[in-house]
Amino acid sequence: MTRPTTLPPKMRGEGPRIEGPLKVTGAATYTSDHNLPGMLYAVPVCATIANGTIVALDTSVAETMPGVQAVYRRGNIGPIFRSAPGEGFEAYLDERRPAFEDDTIRYYGQYVAAVVALTYEQAVAAAGAVSVTYDARQPDVREHFEPEKKPSVDSERGDPEAAFESAAVKIDQTYGTPVETHNPIELHATVADWDGECFTLYETTQGVVNHRDVMAEMLGVPRERVRVISRFLGSGFGGKLFPWPHSHIAASAARNLGRPVKLVVTREMMFGNVGHRPRTQQRIRLAAADDGTLSALMHDSLNHTSILDDYTENCSEATAYSYRVPNLRATSGIVRRNVGTPTSMRGPGAVPGIYALESAMDELAIALEMDPVELRLRNEPERDQGLDLPFSSRHFVECLTVGAEKFGWSRRTPQVGSMRDHGLTLGWGVAGCSWIAERFAAEVAVELFNDGTARVSSATQDIGTGTYTVLAQVVSEKTGIPLEKIEVVLGDSDLAPGPISGGSMVTASVIPAISQAVEAAQQRVFMVAAKLEDTPFFGLEPDALACTGGVVHRKGDSPEEGTSFERILALGNVRSTAAVGRAEASFGSPDKKFSQHSFGAHFVEVTWQQEIARLRVSRVATVIDAGRIVNPKPARNQIEGAVVMGVGMALLEATRYDARSGAPINNNLADYRLVTNADSPRIDVSFLEYPDTVLNDMGVRGVGEIGLAGIAAAVTSAIHHATGVRVRELPVRIENLLG
Ligand code: MOS
Repeated sequence: MTRPTTLPPKMRGEGPRIEGPLKVTGAATYTSDHNLPGMLYAVPVCATIANGTIVALDTSVAETMPGVQAVYRRGNIGPIFRSAPGEGFEAYLDERRPAFEDDTIRYYGQYVAAVVALTYEQAVAAAGAVSVTYDARQPDVREHFEPEKKPSVDSERGDPEAAFESAAVKIDQTYGTPVETHNPIELHATVADWDGECFTLYETTQGVVNHRDVMAEMLGVPRERVRVISRFLGSGFGGKLFPWPHSHIAASAARNLGRPVKLVVTREMMFGNVGHRPRTQQRIRLAAADDGTLSALMHDSLNHTSILDDYTENCSEATAYSYRVPNLRATSGIVRRNVGTPTSMRGPGAVPGIYALESAMDELAIALEMDPVELRLRNEPERDQGLDLPFSSRHFVECLTVGAEKFGWSRRTPQVGSMRDHGLTLGWGVAGCSWIAERFAAEVAVELFNDGTARVSSATQDIGTGTYTVLAQVVSEKTGIPLEKIEVVLGDSDLAPGPISGGSMVTASVIPAISQAVEAAQQRVFMVAAKLEDTPFFGLEPDALACTGGVVHRKGDSPEEGTSFERILALGNVRSTAAVGRAEASFGSPDKKFSQHSFGAHFVEVTWQQEIARLRVSRVATVIDAGRIVNPKPARNQIEGAVVMGVGMALLEATRYDARSGAPINNNLADYRLVTNADSPRIDVSFLEYPDTVLNDMGVRGVGEIGLAGIAAAVTSAIHHATGVRVRELPVRIENLLG
């Protein structure tokens, strides 16, 4: 695929976000901003053990406290069913056990009761007065993993064992990534309303349709009696993809009491009850000939999951197609621990997996005494050897070469500690990255109005990435209607069913549906035109007409001889024409003709001051190959945010459990350290804009997750270059570097 030298002018718009003013003025309504008449407040009671059973649960004191309306627990909350597993993401959730289903405690903080009161303060006070007696057992939160059963083989080719044995140069190392907790600024929350027949759930969800489907099954009502609304999200990072128990607790309480109920999960509970990226332990064996040609790659990963649910962190997501290597095997397995159920976190699978694989590539380059960029260039595959398919659009080599040029990589000297600047030791590291480029099924409605405006709507949602703006831009591009005349409506399960805000797939998914909807809405305008006497369109077949830049004209004629669509609607006394476009999923499709991924390369500089043991990530250059970019401003913002998050993954983030109690001990934003502005490097983001038209007509992929993949490997490789210390267990602690 060749890159066009100039893109259509509208596609170059770097306009600000259309939803920006609502956010900065506080007018955007997030879930917990909803306050309904007569609303009550629910506060869960959390288990203080991680393994055992409830022997007694005494709510008598709590029930008599001021304002308390009800205390729910096993037996009195009413029916809450399990949602049955479906195909793919049909009615999907990670934690399947409904709250209060039995008296067994399997992780610390598990909800054992919930108090509902007139005020939040009353509910908190009463929740503290619920007395629980446990039969506690020793929890298992061990960080070292042994396979519990035969791992499953995710990808295999050639004879990796034999090739590894006979190779000239080899690496055999194990890498660990810790539990990471999603920390969006907006806490998870539900405001549930039951009118005697229907539920309205204001919900912090990355998937209003899925949330509705799961809740309907769990609450035992038809889908059409549940409406889920999520107009704005203060991010989610995957933690809000699928429903968690607080949602059905709030909904059940609202039904029981006949009043709206608000339940806001606390930051502490966020560390136990709403998912996390599980700990991974990954052994990589990598072998090459003396010239750097790879001969074998084995990637064996384990991750922990909860006692009841099987969550696999798909660490080998990128392993089979990253490099040309004839002999390969990737396996995965899970081990059970007394922890809450893990879930997707930004770049699930690929992010920890690429950390391990790209770290091993750096170690191999050192063993070969070869430049790590050169090692990657030498092993560029012609096709995806895992799927045995051509790539839809892969420009990884250009990511590396452009990135190297921008960063100044040719000035790198390979010896540890050999580069100095202003009294600091410099370390330079590089890593590749990739992420799936797919589409979910999507429906989008487009309506054209007689005043020249348009409305685009879909039951997808804006996780905070700029989906409102991007949809408006796509409709503007396809209709010629200016951005400010386009209304975007999202975040309501009653709209045409749209995709979950997951897998960085929303933009790519909605484009084909928008194209169809626009064409169908324009066809209806043409039919109006054909009935207009005293116009040149009268009596024409709709097929003889076209719409260019919002102007209807005869095919073959110049648009200058046409009539605006709004004028045609006005002449016909038609207020609007609406149409729904539908596009099938590419994700999970069995008859794939291409391997569809985005690619990128990160170049990282760290500075090291040995005298005071001070390490900083000072500079990052990232080049991303993610198809055509609809709006460079929010796109760059996604990559910058992901790079910052990657610095956190490398140096700071880790959720720790107390070995005795199983409690997440750093369950707050003081002790769970996140990167702040002061920790953030200078970041230079570039996009290679090769349109990937396998994915959609505009050639757009997605950018929400890819930027996080690879950063931690580039940082730890840079640290090795500066200090000589290779850290294979994230996050890097300063103690690791005190040699
Ligand atoms: Mo992303 S982890 O698919 O929200």
